Amino acid sequence: MSTVILAIESSCDDTSAAILKDGEILSNCVANQEAHREYGGVVPEVASRAHQAKIIPVVNLAIKKAGISLDEISAVAFTRGPGLIGSLLVGVSFAKGFALSRNLPMIEVNHMQAHVLAHFIDTPRPVFPFLCLTVSGGHTQIVLVKDHLDMEVIGTTIDDAAGEAFDKTGKIMGLGYPAGPIIDKNAKLGQPIFKFTEPKVKDLDFSFSGLKTSILYFLKKEIKTNPNFITENMNDLCASVQARIVSILMNKIKKAAQQTGINQVAIAGGVSANSGLRNALRQAGEELGWTTFIPQFQYCTDNAAMIAITAFYKYQNELFVGQEVAPVARYAL
Ligand code: KG4
Ligand code: ZN
Repeated sequence: MSTVILAIESSCDDTSAAILKDGEILSNCVANQEAHREYGGVVPEVASRAHQAKIIPVVNLAIKKAGISLDEISAVAFTRGPGLIGSLLVGVSFAKGFALSRNLPMIEVNHMQAHVLAHFIDTPRPVFPFLCLTVSGGHTQIVLVKDHLDMEVIGTTIDDAAGEAFDKTGKIMGLGYPAGPIIDKNAKLGQPIFKFTEPKVKDLDFSFSGLKTSILYFLKKEIKTNPNFITENMNDLCASVQARIVSILMNKIKKAAQQTGINQVAIAGGVSANSGLRNALRQAGEELGWTTFIPQFQYCTDNAAMIAITAFYKYQNELFVGQEVAPVARYAL
């Protein structure tokens, strides 16, 4: 009999549902929440209300696109954490109700584990062990991936995440939210002529808060002599910010590869959509003899397909949870 999984992702500001059949993604629908743009960041209360409004239409669309009937679904999977608790609650509650009404097993998924396992949606797939640099709006991790369900975080940020570094510096430059994709677009038209110092952080850990402060002071100084400094130099500023964030990330992943002797290197999470990072990884792969893995754009940012593929491995191991399960805002790998 086939295994068909309905997966739900609602950890932050994207409501997503996906259908997976025997390891293959049949549909992956994502509803982005535009409401946060005017606030310059995700407003938790607004996010949970939007999930509540969107979850049923998104699930219906995923089922329709997959061309399956409700009776074929073998299990329902959902993001348990990490994330915004009000957002997670919507997905978890939906999954509970759906599972209860149809008498289905439930599978809980760690969102960060799912970002890594997005590499198992398509081929070629990494071979164990491999390293994954998981970079999103909330996390920056170097993960040693030993098996589908066996991962160890060997490096992490001590302050802001890489996505936050993009979003917060973008906000300082007057860019909308999320600034990451806008900086990426502008950077293509500029040169990294402004040099921001690279922080010194021990081992495989990262720090991005100093970058934000140094950009703030640099711009304040320049604006004193030229009030139009930001607009006149926008593309070069974006290229400079991006170059520094990418170099911070690349230097640590190179160090991790050297320390572990592992030469299969992947990137995952929203920031892995960044063209500068994608190019830098490809280039490092050629120079250092790594095999590199870069996800399709639709599997970089938050999506339920990655929840579905993670749930597929858990389903095979019968790792189910009961109705007493609750979401967790902080959920370690
Ligand atoms: O994984 P994700 O969709 O959500 C979280 O789990 O946080 O990541 C969102 C983050 C945001 O900070 C956004 O600015 C960043 O990913 N991002 C990018 C790009 N696309 C999304 N950052 C840089 N360049 C991009 N092209
Ligand atoms: Zn994410």
